[in-house]
Amino acid sequence: MHPEVIIHNSVSLDHAVTGFEVDLGQHYGALLAFEPEAVLAGSTTAKTGIEIFMDITLPEAEADRHRPEVRPDDRRPISVIVDSRGILKGLLHFYRNMEHTKDVVVLVAETTPEEYLDYLREREYPFIRCGGNRVDLRGALRELGERFGVSRVVSDTGPELNNVLIREGLADTISLIVHPVIAGEGEKKLFDSGGRVALELQKAVPLEQGTVHLVYAVKR
Ligand SMILES: NC(=O)c1ccc[n+]([C@@H]2O[C@H](COP(=O)([O-])OP(=O)(O)OC[C@H]3O[C@@H](n4cnc5c(N)ncnc54)[C@H](OP(=O)(O)O)[C@@H]3O)[C@@H](O)[C@H]2O)c1
Repeated sequence: MHPEVIIHNSVSLDHAVTGFEVDLGQHYGALLAFEPEAVLAGSTTAKTGIEIFMDITLPEAEADRHRPEVRPDDRRPISVIVDSRGILKGLLHFYRNMEHTKDVVVLVAETTPEEYLDYLREREYPFIRCGGNRVDLRGALRELGERFGVSRVVSDTGPELNNVLIREGLADTISLIVHPVIAGEGEKKLFDSGGRVALELQKAVPLEQGTVHLVYAVKR
């Protein structure tokens, strides 16, 4: 059994994930309310987040090279990052230091460069190697459940990874905070899942600032 997967995005009315100001309080408030044991992100999302929110000139400190000790009563989720190409080499300590996460686990594939795996090993980042060219998400999620006791994952990432989760039938729930704006052309749009996906509305809650939280179950 792979863990339950909830896709969670803040979107414009025309389902863009970029090109408007996301209400971060609402976004992370709703995300944490799902009480996930893990939060999943793709390498592009992770790198963009580091570049936007962190000072990337800050060097890695000696303490950053060691896996933090996790207390059993720590309810924070772990961060799980898909990165088969080693895009985050030299940057993962920014994730390790984020206050909303207690540990960082990296998903890689057979094609992942050895030097990136050495970077992970030297710094005690646990990783799951599953898949040939890209990460086999079904297998990696199953292993995440088995090795790390994860039963619920929120995917806090962009369209590329989220559409793979939908296409491969791994997404159970889609949670959207719809912002009152049309982002327009040229912005990254969330849905390009290939075929038709039937949904069942579970929740529609108006929030402050004109946003609405919609939660859909994916019908199988
Ligand atoms: N508004 C919101 O709620 C929200 C939330 C998150 C992000 N964003 C925005 O979204 C943008 C990034 O979105 P994105 O779609 O470009 O990036 P992304 O969601 O990070 O997707 C890229 C990831 O998908 C993986 N991937 C792609 N195809 C795959 C496959 N077939 N099998 C397995 N893994 C696969 C890639 O793996 P590899 O490791 O193999 O490359 C990579 O790790 C940023 O601008 C960010 O700010 C918005």
